[in-house]
Amino acid sequence: MCGIVGGVAERNITAILIEGLKRLEYRGYDSAGFAVIDDDGVLQRLRRVGKVAELDQAQQQEPLAGRLGIAHTRWATHGAPSERNAHPHFSGGELAVVHNGIIENHEALRHQLKGLGYVFTSETDTEVIVHLLDHKLKMFGDLADALKAAVKELHGAYGLSVINAAQPDRLLAARSGSPLVIGLGLGENFLASDQLALRQVTDRFMYLEEGDIAEIRRDSVQIWDAAGQLVERETAQYHEGAEAADKGEYRHFMLKEIHEQPKVVQRTLEGRLGDRQVLVQAFGPQAAELFAKVRNVQIVACGTSYHAGMVARYWLEELAGIPCQVEVASEFRYRKVVVQPDTLFVTISQSGETADSLAALRNAKARTEGEGRYLASLAICNVGISSLVRESDLTLLTQAGPEIGVASTKAFTTQLVGLLLLTLSLGQVRGTLSSALEAELVDELRRLPTRLGEALAMDATVEKISEHFAEKHHTLFLGRGAQYPVAMEGALKLKEISYIHAEAYPAGELKHGPLALVDADMPVVTVAPNNELLEKLKSNLQEVRARGGELIVFADREAGIEDGEGTFIVSMPHIHDVLAPILYTLPLQLLSYYVAVLRGTDVDQPRNLAKSVTVE
Ligand code: F6R
Repeated sequence: MCGIVGGVAERNITAILIEGLKRLEYRGYDSAGFAVIDDDGVLQRLRRVGKVAELDQAQQQEPLAGRLGIAHTRWATHGAPSERNAHPHFSGGELAVVHNGIIENHEALRHQLKGLGYVFTSETDTEVIVHLLDHKLKMFGDLADALKAAVKELHGAYGLSVINAAQPDRLLAARSGSPLVIGLGLGENFLASDQLALRQVTDRFMYLEEGDIAEIRRDSVQIWDAAGQLVERETAQYHEGAEAADKGEYRHFMLKEIHEQPKVVQRTLEGRLGDRQVLVQAFGPQAAELFAKVRNVQIVACGTSYHAGMVARYWLEELAGIPCQVEVASEFRYRKVVVQPDTLFVTISQSGETADSLAALRNAKARTEGEGRYLASLAICNVGISSLVRESDLTLLTQAGPEIGVASTKAFTTQLVGLLLLTLSLGQVRGTLSSALEAELVDELRRLPTRLGEALAMDATVEKISEHFAEKHHTLFLGRGAQYPVAMEGALKLKEISYIHAEAYPAGELKHGPLALVDADMPVVTVAPNNELLEKLKSNLQEVRARGGELIVFADREAGIEDGEGTFIVSMPHIHDVLAPILYTLPLQLLSYYVAVLRGTDVDQPRNLAKSVTVE
């Protein structure tokens, strides 16, 4: 999704802006641009549809230099991807804006501004911001005052940055619903929508909060909060993730991130397991007291994170005996829900900035006593400084580290680990889980990183299997029980990065319709751990074979399923059934990765997708 980089320095910052945009490429975008104020005080701009590399090439052909500038990668929402719609947007020849988010009242503002004589050159919602700002600048004279007045008229979400050729020593920024971070340098300061963009120039960051407006100069930063009061925001030193921006020995970030899973699962477990118990305080000091009251769990998330929630439902009901509902955030946020008493509201998110998940959390928190309120909110999230974490009562941070590949991999498995820790904590505190079973699962969790390593050793086998899919157009994924959401996640990965149509079904549903699709051109992928549903699953597989369907089965090595004509078995390490969803996710990630490589798609930045979906 859109990215912002900006800076004010003594040196020419064009290369810093472009490098920053490159570091944000993983978020997904379709065009890019930047604007600088050159040494003659003239506002200059360059924009290109496509990759940042094309913008960079254009910049080398007609170099633009400046000590103050803003840059942007755009993911189209209002208006097609085109140079005209790419940011920065100008008003007159002096004012430039870049913007992440969506201005919901853009039509009304556009109408009003046209009435004032402003001429629009793009179809974007962003262009209303820059003209509105110009209008306010004419009224107030000072850029910060103009911005404070302008944002009062904006409805929707924004993280934005502004420069003005008439005031070339300052970079302005405003945040509401879309994150921004200031990077502090020596005699120079920067701004970005994600600190990763600025790791090349600083490791000291200041995070803007909701409603903040900042005026950034070379040697000072002033911040006003939503009430217009001057405030200080804490400075944080950033250590983590230095390695994340580098693919190392791997061809793609996705493959690197798949192989990081044993390590990041280990990190997610660190400090959270006692000898025979999960340490409930990992969820915060008041967690034990709160968890004791929980009688229901409502999970809300999007995409891959939603699939993690679906797995957790099986765990929560089976191991902790707690009724659990799971829903995608975009539906939940607009639905009139009936809240059961003592419901823990859980959001799951890699980024912690997903607009729908955040809105669902805010709706949940806004419920008053009369409507039925939630007991408390808990975020399972990978980004400690995210809005979701800041706005939740309790947090469990997954320790996946920055995830660069758009298709989520290590974030998912660490979320599953976090959700299993939650399940065991709830079972422990409420006395619904026997201490013997908890101790057994704690042991299994300790062994999990090793098991994941064993599953990854099958990389070459899965690569070979991927050849079956290269020419196919449709695939089915089957699973039973907690493996059904794993099948859903496998299907999502395949469609996201290889663009093959893939659907997941609970294996028992096959004969109720989808079996009609099965023929020799429809590979059927199945996950088959050795559990009590295995015999039933084997019958479902027979149903596929009888229709000529090709089967690819990831099966426990003790499952007794054998290779045969049209049946390809990938033997999996044996694992406790409760942890099987985590292990069986890995070969499905590898499968989609190798199929995408064979099909020559853009694995790390698949078409039309964005890493962090900060718009509705
Ligand atoms: C799929 C994927 C998306 C995200 C979804 C939610 O590979 O990455 O489906 O899972 O956009 O994002 P987060 O977890 O950041 O809330």
